[in-house]
Amino acid sequence: MKKILVATEKPFAPAAVEGIKGVFNKAGYETEMLEKYSDPADLLKAVAEVDGLIIRSDKVTSQVIEAAKKMKIVVRAGAGYDNVDLEAASAKNIVAMNTPGQNSNAVAELAFGMMLYNARNGFNGTSGTELRGKKLGIHAYGNVGKFVAAIAKGFGMEVYAFDPFLKKEQIDKDGVSVLHSVEELYQTCQYISLHIPANDKTKKSINYELLSKLPKGGTLVNTARKEVIHEADLLKMFEARSDFNYLSDLAPDCKEDVLNKYADRAVFSAKKMGAQTAEANINAGVAAATQIVSFFEKGDTTFQVNK
Ligand code: 3PG
Repeated sequence: MKKILVATEKPFAPAAVEGIKGVFNKAGYETEMLEKYSDPADLLKAVAEVDGLIIRSDKVTSQVIEAAKKMKIVVRAGAGYDNVDLEAASAKNIVAMNTPGQNSNAVAELAFGMMLYNARNGFNGTSGTELRGKKLGIHAYGNVGKFVAAIAKGFGMEVYAFDPFLKKEQIDKDGVSVLHSVEELYQTCQYISLHIPANDKTKKSINYELLSKLPKGGTLVNTARKEVIHEADLLKMFEARSDFNYLSDLAPDCKEDVLNKYADRAVFSAKKMGAQTAEANINAGVAAATQIVSFFEKGDTTFQVNK
């Protein structure tokens, strides 16, 4: 009998766990749960005898891969897989997958929650501003970016996007104006919603040079990854521009410095929560379980990210 471990330091909603177990029960697989663990050693121990693994932002390091003697597949229930050591997985012929698009709407909705909270001064009763008529720049037009565009239109925002990996027609079919450089995006839009992955090319790429191009009231919304921000430059930007706002689902390492000096211009979630909805958890969790069954039963490697 195949044994699959669901290892989530930040647990899925109960309905999602039920859905995952349902998929594995039907396939005749056993589900093991490791939730809310704080010591990485717990994960090393738990993977020892499993055939497959479902994770969220949990770190699958080379040590985890080494400890997982029987593992054939790891599925990141979500989009970004920067938490998985793909080289180590490939070296042991372990298939790594993600579940693209499954939690994207939840992330997009959170971006707007943060924008509204900031535009209305933390709901403190003072007079704020509206999103209607403002320019929103979507930095990378993937699954989350598309939902952000659709919601922004409902708010009556002017929507722009920059994505070097897409053709113009793949973006402007959605009624979104395509800009041709990242600099142009930051120069044009008061609001920027970040959706780039964290990799060697993007880490620390959001720097002062780029941020300083933002027009008055420039507001950066980060529901992507904290590693893409150049934090020393972020502090420099807060200092240099008293109109700059930073709203992030991923609190920066310099969180205390920001909150000590610029608390009224920053919004940080208590814990990364873009994908923390029952719907997103069910979509991503059940997709991950279904992909694992399909891999073992039919050899299906759709969504493999370490080909
Ligand atoms: C993703 O990459 O899918 C999101 O960042 C969600 O991450 P989470 O599953 O840790 O909430």
